[in-house]
Amino acid sequence: MKRVLSGIQPSGPLHLGNYAAAIRQFIDMQADHEMYIFVASYHALTTVRDPKVLRDNVRQVVIDCLAFGIDPQRTNFYLQQDVPKVTELAWLLGCMCPKHLMDKATSFKDKLAKGLSASIGLYTYPILQAADILSVDPDVVPVGEDQRQHVEITRDLAEKFNAAYGPVFKIPDLKIREGSGLMPGVDGQKMSKSYGNAISPFLEEKALKKVIMKITTDSKGVDEAKDPETCTVFQIFRGLAGVNDPRTAELAERYRKGGMGYGVAKQALLELILNHFGPARKRRVELMNDPGYVEQVLRQGAAAANAKASDVTARARKAVGL
Ligand code: TRP
Repeated sequence: MKRVLSGIQPSGPLHLGNYAAAIRQFIDMQADHEMYIFVASYHALTTVRDPKVLRDNVRQVVIDCLAFGIDPQRTNFYLQQDVPKVTELAWLLGCMCPKHLMDKATSFKDKLAKGLSASIGLYTYPILQAADILSVDPDVVPVGEDQRQHVEITRDLAEKFNAAYGPVFKIPDLKIREGSGLMPGVDGQKMSKSYGNAISPFLEEKALKKVIMKITTDSKGVDEAKDPETCTVFQIFRGLAGVNDPRTAELAERYRKGGMGYGVAKQALLELILNHFGPARKRRVELMNDPGYVEQVLRQGAAAANAKASDVTARARKAVGL
């Protein structure tokens, strides 16, 4: 069974885009992979300075992931902060990391351009990510396209380390998720919390309906034939139901025939979301009322990750002469 590791940035409650791009794939992989999925709380500290916000964001992401269906029986689910060995590993890797490797990291430049402060933590973010990854000896790291460079840096650092000290790290494969870009937000841009265009499947029904009714469309009248491919409502529907789902084909057909207004398409999307996430919505309420259970899940996940990280770190320490 292949071992998989991936991390999730705790940037507040999860939305449909996060689900479609990442969480759904983790849930599918649980059936036949040994899973390590963690919430990147140390990484969040590179951008979040308010302790209450950080705590709340981490808690929200944990609850949402479990509600969506990350199953603690099949996935080691933990907080990065509960595996402090990754910071030691990051130091060992950092001492092997030529500065120019960080200078060419695009995410740092992008974040500076957005006005974030150029802290050392932000600058060395990829080294900590390499440590997260290498700490459990994974075979595969599934990430979105935006994380490609970080995983390449990880492989590069591991190879440099191994070349200098012998075979300490397993070199993991990069797996880019397909279809990550398929889910637009209500304004038609990529769905993102920072664009304010996200749809949360956990909103109260009335609030959810309000958000969906806000989705931008063109001004074609009810009777006119419509193009599903250029319609944000349809794209979100397809992103969730799936390209090959008969409901997607049926909705596309109704667009092309004419006689269906956008209000009807939006109603269909609302029903799809309520239907698809019915069990998740229920589970989320239960989880919010059972912090003891959530705590225990995280402890169990951290125990598994710590056992692996201790092995790997011991190997690395010995290799360097500590
Ligand atoms: N940088 C990733 C993101 O922004 C989160 C992350 C941290 C991660 N460590 C990781 C992803 C290790 C994969 C593997 O989404």
